[in-house]
Amino acid sequence: MPGPRGWPIIGSLLSLGESPHIALMQIASDYGNVFQIRLGVQNIVVLNGVRALRDALFKQPIAFSGRPRFPSFMKSSQGGKGLAFSSYSEQWRKLRKVVDASLRDFVTDRLFSTEQKITTEASELIRILTNNMKGHVMDAHDDIHVAIGNIIVFALFGKNYSHDDPEFKDLVCLNKQFAQAVTGNGNIADFFPWLQFVPSSIQDQLDTYLEQESSYMKDRLREHYNVYKSSAPRDILDRILSMYEVDEGRASLLKNTDSEKEVIATLSNLFGAGYDTTSKTLYISLVYMIIYPDIQRKVHEEIDRVVGRDRLPKSSDRPSMPFTDAVIQEVLRDSSIAAMGIPHCTVQSTTLYNYHIPKYTPIFVNLWSANHDPESWDEPELFRPERFLSMDCRSLNKSATRKLMAFGVGKRRCPGEQLAQLELFLLFSALMHQCSFEPCQGEIPELKYTVGLSLTLQPYKVYTTIRKSVGQ
Ligand code: HEM
Repeated sequence: MPGPRGWPIIGSLLSLGESPHIALMQIASDYGNVFQIRLGVQNIVVLNGVRALRDALFKQPIAFSGRPRFPSFMKSSQGGKGLAFSSYSEQWRKLRKVVDASLRDFVTDRLFSTEQKITTEASELIRILTNNMKGHVMDAHDDIHVAIGNIIVFALFGKNYSHDDPEFKDLVCLNKQFAQAVTGNGNIADFFPWLQFVPSSIQDQLDTYLEQESSYMKDRLREHYNVYKSSAPRDILDRILSMYEVDEGRASLLKNTDSEKEVIATLSNLFGAGYDTTSKTLYISLVYMIIYPDIQRKVHEEIDRVVGRDRLPKSSDRPSMPFTDAVIQEVLRDSSIAAMGIPHCTVQSTTLYNYHIPKYTPIFVNLWSANHDPESWDEPELFRPERFLSMDCRSLNKSATRKLMAFGVGKRRCPGEQLAQLELFLLFSALMHQCSFEPCQGEIPELKYTVGLSLTLQPYKVYTTIRKSVGQ
């Protein structure tokens, strides 16, 4: 397979730089959309662009559906358990089925009052932002994270926290350290295994976070264990517990068994993935509104026309608000904050474009490159929500939404996509219904990111005013 030769010992590590997703796209222009790089002790196959991602992950869904046993993954998943970091197996399929069904029921309000919960969080967020601001400027990062964190803990455990709850605020904001230490292109110690034993502040932060998170999940499991009824599940944890009860009986779950570890790892995956990416996307969408005031004005106009000023937007308004929806899809595409998704791995030897790929080869999936692929997107570097609109601008353009790869492709595609889309629509449109966002002291924030498991936008301050009347 083609690919850069790299340096002895370190391989191509230095070429990845601070933005591996962009560096890998550049390497693809020399070697093609499927190439191999060496990082320390690992040979890795890299997939770039819409076509290669589809031909591998969609057309050969099982062959590419594993996860590499990177040390950072093993450490973050109770030794390779749970949903996100465990490899493809019968157990993973069962767990994924339960999680998919529970999230579907959560989004469709079948078991839970989801829309009401999201709208309550939206109102609380607006209250906090506008109270704090009163003509001031602020960074909305932590409050957005707590609001979205609250939605996922409600789905998982039926819990509610106030925005001032110090324990919850800590847990939600500490997750930053996790996303720095575990990344879409691995962690440096994944490729140079001896580095795991060298003390480092990032490893220490990761250990502290994992300990805190695991103890939080254990407490929730203990709370649920004695009272859940499989005939009347109250939340996603009840659903997962019922699955184990059928398989192994209730008693197996609190004895530090593999099942207990698996439940804790799954809860951690859903908690971390459930709010980190969604809150970052919402935070970023406000920056886009500051950078593009004309687009902000068009969103305000659409909301006022469809919803009016007397109530907040509802999910049933969504089909009548294609422009607002298109803005959200374009934010997902352009920012592509899960730029490299989570690395995959082959579970059997296979071929792609006549290249042989052995079993257990780690695969980097460059989602960012697919969302900026000039073969699929006209002028991909431009922020242009209209690309997601139908010709008559009355609905979303289905062929564009099908091409969007913000949530991955194939068997490992994000199970939380529908929930994320619902949260983004309700929260973004509620914030836009109530507020206008402007640069602080005329300084337009830049779209500058640091790379981790997802991209993190550098903090920015925003000047927010409360909208009182139509068009304001
Ligand atoms: C804007 C929001 C989100 C984005 C952009 C996003 C994106 C992604 C991506 C790219 C992957 C990796 C796919 C792959 O490996 O090929 C993923 C996996 C995952 N996501 Fe999301 N996600 C979002 C929200 C959510 C939410 C709300 C939840 C849960 C409630 C969630 C739960 C998960 C889980 C559990 C996995 C691992 C799935 C597996 O390995 O089988 N995500 N997500």
